[in-house]
Amino acid sequence: MNEALIYRYRSELSKDSSISGALPEARAATPKPFVKWVGGKSQLLHELRSRLPSDFEKSITTYIEPFIGGGAFFFWILSRYTHLQRIIINDANEALINTYKVIRDNPDELIDILMTFKAQYQSMKDEEGRKDYYYSKREAFNAGDATPVERAAYLIFLNRTCFNGLYRVNAKGKFNVPHGRYKNPLICDPDTIQADSKALANVEICHGDFAAVLKEADEHSFVYFDPPYRPLSETSSFCSYCEGGFDDNEQRRLAACCRELDKIGVRWMLSNSDPKGLCPEDNFLLMCEVL
Ligand SMILES: C[S@@+](CC[C@H](N)C(=O)[O-])C[C@H]1O[C@@H](n2cnc3c(N)ncnc32)[C@H](O)[C@@H]1O
Repeated sequence: MNEALIYRYRSELSKDSSISGALPEARAATPKPFVKWVGGKSQLLHELRSRLPSDFEKSITTYIEPFIGGGAFFFWILSRYTHLQRIIINDANEALINTYKVIRDNPDELIDILMTFKAQYQSMKDEEGRKDYYYSKREAFNAGDATPVERAAYLIFLNRTCFNGLYRVNAKGKFNVPHGRYKNPLICDPDTIQADSKALANVEICHGDFAAVLKEADEHSFVYFDPPYRPLSETSSFCSYCEGGFDDNEQRRLAACCRELDKIGVRWMLSNSDPKGLCPEDNFLLMCEVL
């Protein structure tokens, strides 16, 4: 496996058995990601939770996730910990952040629109019809003149029916993923939307660069960073979640922010790829001083 979890705390890593029990049962009403997201952490929850600070419940009152994406760990945190006083999520992808806000504030209207999309998509008799329908929605999404609720519905519909659930934009910021081939995609999941809406009720949802939300952190904060991974090769590169990408300079800027957090006693955890898996001489992460 080429991925490694990179972590560093100011205090000892968690050895607390109270957080090592089974994950909550997957129930319809459990908050969970409402989109598929490249780099999503659903499969790594056990690794992440075992690295939470042992005094998470006692000392941490603010949770911050500056690269929220699909929010797999965030939704797990929400369903596991009720003591947090402040929760802040952020992403540079404006369409994604709009969807989080719509789910929090307007779940019923969103579900109505998605149910219509679902019925229309499923009523198409053949693959060509579904494909045409997909591209008409992609065009409408890219036109940029829809209401926030419609845009959220477009994003979820496209995410569920596009190739591999990718979110990729071109240089002009237009979503350009082709139609996928799913027999029965989950276009509308009302239970998850309603559960997420309740869970998001008191969450501060921000759009912008990761560095902006770090200003809110203090010694009672825990920050989980899940940035776009440093590509392991030219071909494995996927940083096109939003315009601009995330190159080595961005990785260095992020490392510098982590060092600033250290200075004020903020605890944090960061996931990234391990370039040493492919090239043992690649010391990029060591040079960033995050290991
Ligand atoms: C690896 S994904 C996060 C995946 C997430 N943990 C999950 O479980 O789905 C990285 C996210 O960082 C966002 N991003 C990229 N550059 C950013 C920046 N400069 N500031 C904030 N977010 C950024 C992308 O839009 C993407 O959603």
